[in-house]
Amino acid sequence: MVRGKFVSRTTWLALAGLVMAAGWPACDYDPVIQEAIEDLPPEDPDGPSEFHRAGQSCVDCHSAYYGADPDLAIGGTVYEQQSNGSLDPVEGVFVTIFDSAGASQKACTNSAGNFFVRLEDWEDAKFPLAVQVGNRYMRSLIGRDRSCAGCHELATQTKVNIDPTVDPSTGQSRTSAGAILVERSTIPIEEQCGLNPASASSSTTTSTGSGMGGSGGMMGSGGSGGGS
Ligand code: HEC
Ligand code: HEC
Repeated sequence: MVRGKFVSRTTWLALAGLVMAAGWPACDYDPVIQEAIEDLPPEDPDGPSEFHRAGQSCVDCHSAYYGADPDLAIGGTVYEQQSNGSLDPVEGVFVTIFDSAGASQKACTNSAGNFFVRLEDWEDAKFPLAVQVGNRYMRSLIGRDRSCAGCHELATQTKVNIDPTVDPSTGQSRTSAGAILVERSTIPIEEQCGLNPASASSSTTTSTGSGMGGSGGMMGSGGSGGGS
């Protein structure tokens, strides 16, 4: 009896090990990243795409560790706060990331507010990094995080319940910088993007381009062209 129980438990562990090995083929198990991933909300109903999981830590998954394709150098989501407090994704604003060797990359937010730089486009980014989103500049530097959401965590009901300092709209708290916010109406034309098919998806550009874009409210079809 006891022996049988022991065997089945061992078998179960072995199976769990196999499942884990299959799920995360590239790297060793990392409890910190693993816990962060397991705490994330479920996949969007439409399934994975460049528009999914807005506000979440993109690079926890889009890295050698978890192996979601493509590998990303940087990823995040940009919002505007409405007068009722709620957050709207901002489409069509440039996010510019400057590394400490003088290189920079621009990415354009899509209709989910998501932007990203593929790792293959920036394998050698030298940290720390500085960032600009439209006309907003982050004053501090990014030491090593590749996901903006590592610091810019959104609010969840659980977080609001356990930490009274969490702003239920933006998520800002003692431990979170809150959502990355811009005001659409103040974004200068040269920081707008996405209506130009060449930068319609979240693909990256190294030059500034012609900064096309209408008057602030850029809606429409950005995001489906180009890309992979
Ligand atoms: C919980 C893990 C996870 C998180 C967090 C996550 N993704 Fe993904 N993503 C995936 C998976 C899984 C796929 C499907 C591809 C695959 O299976 O390798 C995917 C696919 C994609 C694709 C490819 C879509 C295509 O059509 O080829 C892009 C681009 C992408 N995600 C961007 C992002 C961005 C930007 C973020 C953050 C805002 C993000 N992802 C957050 C797991 C994740
Ligand atoms: C290491 C933590 C950390 C990471 C990672 C991080 N941020 Fe920040 N961010 C902050 C903090 C803290 C502030 C507020 C103080 C400041 O500006 O430095 C901030 C402020 C900002 C602001 C200024 C907002 C305003 O009110 O004007 C922008 C824009 C911004 N971040 C964008 C980004 C983007 C884009 C990324 C990902 C590429 C990112 N941040 C990643 C910590 C971080």
